[in-house]
Amino acid sequence: MLMAPHHARSSTSATVLMVLVAAAVVVGGAAAAASGKKKPVVPAVIVFGDSTVDTGNNNVIGTVLKSNFPPYGRDLQGGATGRFCNGRLPPDFVSEALGLPPLVPAYLDPAYGIEDFATGVVFASAGSGLDNATASVLAVIPMWKEVEYFKEYQRRLAKHAGRARARHIVANAVYVVSVGTNDFLENYYLLVTGRFLQFTVAEYQDFLVARAAEFLTAIYRLGARRVTFAGLSAIGCVPLERTLNLLGGGGCNEEYNQVARDYNVKVKAMIARLRAELRGYRLAYINVCNDKSPLTCDDADKYFFWDSFHPTEKINRFFAKGTTAVSLSLLR
Ligand SMILES: *[C@@H]1O[C@H](CO)[C@@H](O)[C@H](O)[C@H]1NC(C)=O
Repeated sequence: MLMAPHHARSSTSATVLMVLVAAAVVVGGAAAAASGKKKPVVPAVIVFGDSTVDTGNNNVIGTVLKSNFPPYGRDLQGGATGRFCNGRLPPDFVSEALGLPPLVPAYLDPAYGIEDFATGVVFASAGSGLDNATASVLAVIPMWKEVEYFKEYQRRLAKHAGRARARHIVANAVYVVSVGTNDFLENYYLLVTGRFLQFTVAEYQDFLVARAAEFLTAIYRLGARRVTFAGLSAIGCVPLERTLNLLGGGGCNEEYNQVARDYNVKVKAMIARLRAELRGYRLAYINVCNDKSPLTCDDADKYFFWDSFHPTEKINRFFAKGTTAVSLSLLR
């Protein structure tokens, strides 16, 4: 369902991009110093979530949701790695900007071992969500299982590098979490799991935010401290939804965008609460949209989307700037 690349006329607002640029510029000096061949500023980048950050885990699991074939990876050395993009994903750019490898390997990729994962690892799985039911739609890795892999990773890391070093890596790594879109687009609004009967959309937002809080608390208890959690983008503007929005003349689905904005407000409040509750937790919300200018999707940029769901590398690089800047701010 998500496989055919097409360059739909879409969707982000120039304002969104400018806000991210502004955020990047604030810490721009530090970001520049961190990039290049210098000593890494953190020991590792550790990633959880869905296709926005899955670098290849779905290649080796029994799901139809894969992207390890051309034209995916068209502009990537190594070709179609399982990234849902023509090139690299945000965690790859974040890793490179922090002085770590330019590609963050997928935990289940047999081509990599614990020595590689010691500087960066991705547990994310395309199609996953905060709701267990979302991962079940396409038989992908649910978030609780990503956490189980994280525990296993820590055991392997301790064996490989020693307990103290493993603890250092886990405590000082930057964590990138990006998940949530599928809970709405592949689950709630696809009407496949019954969630739409069980919850109003506001109740479902609350349910997802509670799951996110559980997840963020679980990785805190496992030692994570510097964590970025991305909000939702303009989910009503992905090409698939625009195509389905026949009544709206193929424009963005504004109802979905409003749901994303409301959800983001709740996520921000949850993050503020966790920061207050969990000592030493440097948890930051990543704003993928601009709240003030509500996602005007008229400034179509045909290069925004690579397939019916996923942005191009150019946009991923852009998202990564904001995440890198916020990550650096968490180190202070
Ligand atoms: C999701 O599934 C896991 C594993 O079965 C379970 O521990 C957890 O309680 C479930 N979460 C919810 C909200 O049902």
